[in-house]
Amino acid sequence: MCGIVGYTGRGPALGPLLVGLRNLEYRGYDSAGLALLDSGRLVVVKRAGKISELEQALAGVPGSAAVGVAHTRWATHGIPNERNAHPHADCSGEVVIVHNGIIENYRELREELEARGHVFVSETDSEVIAHLIEEEKGAGLAEAVRRAARRMEGAFAVAALSAREPGLLVGVRRDAPLLAGLAEDAGLLASAVTALLPYTRRVLALGQDEVAEVSPGRIRLTDLEGRVIEREAEEVSWTQEAAEKGGYPDFMLKEIYEQPQAVRDTLAGRVAGGRVVLDELRVGEDEVRAVDKVFAVACGTSYHAGLVAKYLVEKWARVPVEVEVASEFRYRDPVLGPRSLVLAISQSGETADTLAAARHAAGQGARVVAVTNVVGSALALEADAVLYTRAGLEIGVAATKTFAAQLAAVSLFTLWMAGVRGVLGQEEILALLGRLRELPRAVEGALETRASLGPLEERILTAGGALFLGRNVGYPVALEGALKLKEISYLHAEGFPAGEMKHGPIALVEPGFPVVGVATGGPTHPKLLSNLEEVRARGAWVAVVAREGEEVPEDLAEVVVRVPSLDPYFTPAAAVVPLQLLAYGVAKARGCDVDKPRNLAKSVTVE
Ligand code: G6P
Repeated sequence: MCGIVGYTGRGPALGPLLVGLRNLEYRGYDSAGLALLDSGRLVVVKRAGKISELEQALAGVPGSAAVGVAHTRWATHGIPNERNAHPHADCSGEVVIVHNGIIENYRELREELEARGHVFVSETDSEVIAHLIEEEKGAGLAEAVRRAARRMEGAFAVAALSAREPGLLVGVRRDAPLLAGLAEDAGLLASAVTALLPYTRRVLALGQDEVAEVSPGRIRLTDLEGRVIEREAEEVSWTQEAAEKGGYPDFMLKEIYEQPQAVRDTLAGRVAGGRVVLDELRVGEDEVRAVDKVFAVACGTSYHAGLVAKYLVEKWARVPVEVEVASEFRYRDPVLGPRSLVLAISQSGETADTLAAARHAAGQGARVVAVTNVVGSALALEADAVLYTRAGLEIGVAATKTFAAQLAAVSLFTLWMAGVRGVLGQEEILALLGRLRELPRAVEGALETRASLGPLEERILTAGGALFLGRNVGYPVALEGALKLKEISYLHAEGFPAGEMKHGPIALVEPGFPVVGVATGGPTHPKLLSNLEEVRARGAWVAVVAREGEEVPEDLAEVVVRVPSLDPYFTPAAAVVPLQLLAYGVAKARGCDVDKPRNLAKSVTVE
């Protein structure tokens, strides 16, 4: 996955392209490049590495050029060097394209094009697009793009520019996001709204196989056959400030501190008259009553939210739940049918593995409910119903506030389901909702743990790794704590169900090795304490994250980090906060770029 941006206006394009790239850098940063059209001539500059590398290479580019396209890459085909960086040009150098996605039939297309004399300079799948357009260029850029897209298989968002038609940008998409932005004297194309916000809030999201012809102040939309589609640009509410750091040194820290608000917003307006009201879910109550199994499919942090959902749904809605990483789900031929309900959880709503899993489930007759943070994302559009998390824009690659919002959303979903199915009575739901309402305050309180994390950070830095242990809903939190540490500090960390330690992983424990227990309370608490005693007896340096008032023997732990007391099943959103802050502290001490950890990307649109 990559970020693409295009600009056509009456003023210089370079500034908007660079701002756009910066705001899209979270999508990948293996290489960056841009093309500007100046007096009928295309000038292309590209560099391996981050956008800053590209910026240093820009001396001498035509600063007054009013149209251009740019790209920040997360490599899929071809190593991340300058030659494979986008934009890619056709043989004549008259057409350039930038592409996000994968052209699955690029080998056949390349062979065919080479046989007809086209010369390729990169190892990428993307370059075929430029040559396909070249083949059809007699028909004009827009029609050539449509014809090329009809031949392309796979996922793509493309922005194309031709020296023959100055002022025109053409975009097309399938299974990868592309937005067109409309300003009075400019038109833009971009992978995400962040690249558009500095210039306009009027945004038109391209649908599957739609083509946008963008010129200053105008967007013309067609399908791949060239039939005009009448759809107006809409005003989006995200502000440019949301895309900036708001005084924090990094987006990640800002987003950790935005968690109380993310939870508050996700819960807002979804409870009325003592009931959970999820009108937007649009799943018939009879269908919900008929569900005999829930599947949660997701990747990364969202998968951990799915694991928490399992504990909640089984406890309160009494429906069996299977949780699976999306990339495994569809290939094992899971047993699905009309009585299956699939919760597809994805912050971005564009993770290819999760989309593929959701599509597979839908194809088997299951009902798919998307839990996503991005309105109008592919997952949201394709699912039967959507429960939006309302965390706002998350820019740090490592998910934080969106995880908290997912936990709030799956809690609501569970209580809604329990109510519809009549498993819990009105009184019980009312009581649980009362406790759920405490969540934003508890998350706020958990932010105060930052001051007490120093000794644990030191210990992890010295040991070069850590283990995280939890039971019940504390187990997914342990996994998430370990993932955060791995992702942003590059130290080895693992999360385990605490009871499983004695069956193998305890052999890893050496004197002084840091082990973090996640005590979310509930009936497994005494068991967790025993498991922590077991590792301590082998010399581990134990820290415990526990709810206020929860018993933790004084001699068990070197550090006890207290989060506000909550219902155990709602505690994950609070208990994870010190673990996020811990990973942040360790990563900063190691000098890591917490917002853009190496090898990672915010949304992964390839399988
Ligand atoms: C990437 C990100 C992770 C994220 C995962 C799932 O790997 O680096 O932080 O958890 O994708 O993303 P999604 O948008 O589907 O929640």
